Amino acid sequence: MGKQFNEEVLSRRTFAIISHPDAGKTTLTEKLLLFGGAIRDAGTVKGKKTGKYATSDWMEIEKQRGISVTSSVMQFEYDGYRINILDTPGHEDFSEDTYRTLTAVDSAVMIIDSAKGIEEQTIKLFKVCRMRGIPIFTFINKLDREGKLPLDLLAELEEVLGIESYPMNWPIGMGKEFFGIYDRYYNRIEQFRKSDEERFLPLNKAGELAVDHPLQQSALYDQVLEEMLLLNEAGNEFSEDRVMNGTLTPVFFGSALTNFGVQTFLETYLKFAPAPKPRHSSRGEIDPTSQQFSGFVFKIQANMNPAHRDRIAFIRICSGKFERGMSVYLSRTGKQLKLSQSTQFMADDRSTVNEAVSGDIIGIYDPGTYQIGDTLTTNKEGFFYEELPQFTPELFVRVTAKNVMKQKHFHKGIQQLVQEGAIQLYKTRTEDYLLGAVGQLQFEVFEHRMKNEYNVEVIFERLGSKIARWVGNEKVDESLSNSRSLLVRDQKEQRVFLFENDFALRWFQEKNPHVQLINPMDANK
Ligand code: G4P
Repeated sequence: MGKQFNEEVLSRRTFAIISHPDAGKTTLTEKLLLFGGAIRDAGTVKGKKTGKYATSDWMEIEKQRGISVTSSVMQFEYDGYRINILDTPGHEDFSEDTYRTLTAVDSAVMIIDSAKGIEEQTIKLFKVCRMRGIPIFTFINKLDREGKLPLDLLAELEEVLGIESYPMNWPIGMGKEFFGIYDRYYNRIEQFRKSDEERFLPLNKAGELAVDHPLQQSALYDQVLEEMLLLNEAGNEFSEDRVMNGTLTPVFFGSALTNFGVQTFLETYLKFAPAPKPRHSSRGEIDPTSQQFSGFVFKIQANMNPAHRDRIAFIRICSGKFERGMSVYLSRTGKQLKLSQSTQFMADDRSTVNEAVSGDIIGIYDPGTYQIGDTLTTNKEGFFYEELPQFTPELFVRVTAKNVMKQKHFHKGIQQLVQEGAIQLYKTRTEDYLLGAVGQLQFEVFEHRMKNEYNVEVIFERLGSKIARWVGNEKVDESLSNSRSLLVRDQKEQRVFLFENDFALRWFQEKNPHVQLINPMDANK
């Protein structure tokens, strides 16, 4: 496909923003999209209190709760790069969805609220990025407010997350006294709340101001020079290799709300963030610039847009070029399919996509053909990308339709939502339906969607938390099933024991050492 195609692929930067709720992910995303010209007005992405909602918040329930439940994709261009941002819900109950999204990105941007430091949800998401070895860039936000001391924040990165850091820039004061950032990378000072013409002050080779400025007389200046000395002598050295393998995170300071430090962050990020890389498959490494088209489904979502009433499979392209109407093979079934109805995602709309290359995310209309983790390729022999990480549900309910006359809709709704990966389904020996989730909110979304999209009211009987373990043996004695160790079947008809608690699990294991119990989460490590 030649040089132009290779250049296209190399211009792709596909990343997710990870953070704890309220750290400023939506605000930062919005500012990035503004730079890319993808949206015109601030406030388009969201405004929880103004009654406007993020364009990425498709579902009604998201509007009601003011949280982003499902991951969405936004694309824009900047300085010759084509950037795909994958949004991830901050709410912990949606970790399954979020984790899968992280399989589709090449890097991650971690936002930290300077006053709060590293919070719980950030730790969880960070661990997944680390597991996948993807580069992580840190943006420490809200410098316009009083926060923790920058050196303490770096220490937190190291102690709580276990990652070393290299500050690309450094705040000069904070809150009311916030003067700006000392930019080590561009060797300049960037002033807060200053017009474009005045914003930058040059530094000399020694790292001191190269022009006369009142800042030189302030204590803040002495302090920043002292801190620079400390960082230069005792801090980590910058290493692009270590950034690439995820063991060193470049750190940026700024304030998303006031749009300070965001452009500098974006420009520096683009210099170091990786383009699409080769990916493992059952046929070895697949190069993103290889000719043959391939990609995998990392997310399926039904009824994203009430006006469209459809179902979309999100595909991360891993090699070659997508052209609308092309035929591909679905590796799982060997069947050939035509990719005709395709969508790409902009901040303010979806539009038909005719071409896309490795690194891009496309949405394909899904009549019920795809499953999460499916590989699509023009290679007739077919191959598989690595399986997506699995999650062990912890909460369970028994579910029935309120109105027995609605059985058909009930089954259709469950089947679709389960295929989407929104929730996990199990059946008991008596064919009762149990649902398993990582968090309570997943049940609420399920209930809401069953009612709104399939017109079925459901009744839940809470079973509380259980420890789910898959059975490794071919056969298992059904009589081992009781209320404390309930034997059920999953969607693939595999046997699973649901244990009442840790004690029940240990007791069972002692009594039945021949039964091999597997926790799928262990395979993710
Ligand atoms: P999230 O998507 O990570 O949940 O965070 P979001 O961007 O919604 O930001 C959470 C809150 O933090 C918002 O205020 C937002 O305005 C504020 N914020 C974001 N960046 C900055 C910053 O750089 N400085 C300051 N001071 N605040 C910031 P809110 O009052 O909760 O909501 P809203 O009324 O602004 O919608």
